[in-house]
Amino acid sequence: MSRRLFAAADQERAEAILSRMTLAQKVGQMTQAERMAATPADVRDYHLGSILSGGGSCPGDNTLADWVAMNDAYWAASMDAGPGRIPIPILYGVDAIHGNANVRGATVFPHNIGLGAAHDPDLIERVARVSAREILATGVEWTFAPTLAVVRNDRWGRTYESFSEDPEIVTAYAGRMVRGLQADLETDAVIACAKHWVGDGGTTDGVDQGDTAVSEAELERLHIAPYHAALASGVLTVMASYNSWNGEKCHGSRYLLTEVLKGKLGFEGLVISDWDGIDYLAPDYGDAVALAVNAGIDMFMVSAKWPEFITQLLRHVREGTVPVARIDDAVRRILLVKLAYGLFERPRPAERPWSCHASFGSPAHRAVAREAVRKSLVLLKNDRAMLPLSRGARILVAGKNADNRGHQCGGFTIAWQGTSGNEQVVGGTSIWEGIRAAAPGAFLSPDGAAAAPGRFDAAVVVIGEHPYAEGMGDLRRPDRPVQRGSQALPLGTTLSPYGDTLELAATHPEDLAVIRRIAEAGIPVVAVLVSGRPLVVNAELAAAAAFVAAWLPGSEGQGVADVLFGDYPFQGRLSFSWPRQAHGDANRGDPVADALFPYGFGMD
Ligand code: GLC
Repeated sequence: MSRRLFAAADQERAEAILSRMTLAQKVGQMTQAERMAATPADVRDYHLGSILSGGGSCPGDNTLADWVAMNDAYWAASMDAGPGRIPIPILYGVDAIHGNANVRGATVFPHNIGLGAAHDPDLIERVARVSAREILATGVEWTFAPTLAVVRNDRWGRTYESFSEDPEIVTAYAGRMVRGLQADLETDAVIACAKHWVGDGGTTDGVDQGDTAVSEAELERLHIAPYHAALASGVLTVMASYNSWNGEKCHGSRYLLTEVLKGKLGFEGLVISDWDGIDYLAPDYGDAVALAVNAGIDMFMVSAKWPEFITQLLRHVREGTVPVARIDDAVRRILLVKLAYGLFERPRPAERPWSCHASFGSPAHRAVAREAVRKSLVLLKNDRAMLPLSRGARILVAGKNADNRGHQCGGFTIAWQGTSGNEQVVGGTSIWEGIRAAAPGAFLSPDGAAAAPGRFDAAVVVIGEHPYAEGMGDLRRPDRPVQRGSQALPLGTTLSPYGDTLELAATHPEDLAVIRRIAEAGIPVVAVLVSGRPLVVNAELAAAAAFVAAWLPGSEGQGVADVLFGDYPFQGRLSFSWPRQAHGDANRGDPVADALFPYGFGMD
């Protein structure tokens, strides 16, 4: 059951503000625009309630000062008390889903799939605390996290945003993540957002924004279960999901949004739509707007379409197809969230204590991320006890992901689809840089060309995927177009999925080639897989003497070396079953376990 979120005094204040608002001011408050499509003057003139940055949408040179200056301008506009205006401070939202990773120099944590393997709820709360402070350093108050997806098919391009295929870990983490972010709504708190409601990880074939065809009992057991912990911890916002449930889009489901979430579960905060998520509800945009508002969405992430959204909603209220009472309920929830967060009392972003704070990207913050990397690593094979490696050994390091901080960070880092190379991930260490620091004699040869019999005692080959986000990370037949998700792309832009199989050797044959080239020179190989999901790696496993699942470790690649050289033990345990074959769908508790390595597996 949801916790009582709002004090009586805040409820009285909300009613007093609401009673003075015009319809235009109310509809504006329900509108969230993307920063590239709305100026501070728009915020002032249309009474916009929130602005967001889509993935990679960063001001100026993407410095803290640029972010704070931008937020300061939006805040000032929202507080304009000129004729016909009521000062209601704006909320700014970002996808800080593994640290504030879009911002230059941020501490970038392992994506959730790695944190899930750590099985450490205490760590999760500390990760959230650091993330909150690095979000506040940019003048931002709201993050669209945690993702509470329980992913049942690893082909989904967002598998890495999930802690686990099983609700047990997701539930254990949900409340701790919310508490770490919202921190009793004190000065160093941000507003959290449990997402995506509901069933995002259960679509057929793992297709992004697809249909989750399960019974209500299964929906509750697998996908709703973690929300109870998030609501009990006082999460202030919930994001609606793109997917459908048994053919009905969540964004248009009055049953799921109002009867279940707000009614049965008693959620009192605000529900926000996903990026243009209402577009898919009806061919006519106006009809889609009315459907979504009446279904129970309170704030609308309408990115660049916000002027039309406002026009259509005003029309529907005037025509009576959207009741004023629904508008008032939505605005009341928005005001209560802002009041509970103390937003009306917080100074302008430029004057807030955490803005541009020196702790951003600090060694102390990075130490937490490095610990998370260590605890996320899962040892799947270790023939002849090859690991740990000796610092004095002659070590060859190879593989396309060995010296690539962008690849080890994955999606939603600097850019929506992530980045490649080391340059844009300022601060931190690549896996190679970490190994070199631990074993100065190590030698980097990305394609393994330096391998020669007798020249090295061991090799570390870092393989896997390059970054992706949302549908562009799907593994599916190429003939199924990908929806554009959170990127402001021209309509009609055709996005391609990542590939069509879980088999790594089919998508990235270069990895097996490098492992074999080195192994055939008589050098035993430790394969380190950097990926957003479990993959079928039977050939790579056979060719390597040892094999480590490193997931998407983030900026602190040195955490991998900490464990490879034995400074810390392997403690990660799989939070996802490891597939034996490309068409397998092994999940914990399935009647016929088709897992090569079962949920919970991991060697010491
Ligand atoms: C996206 C994602 C959602 C994200 C939002 C804002 O499409 O589905 O997780 O928070 O848009 O970028």
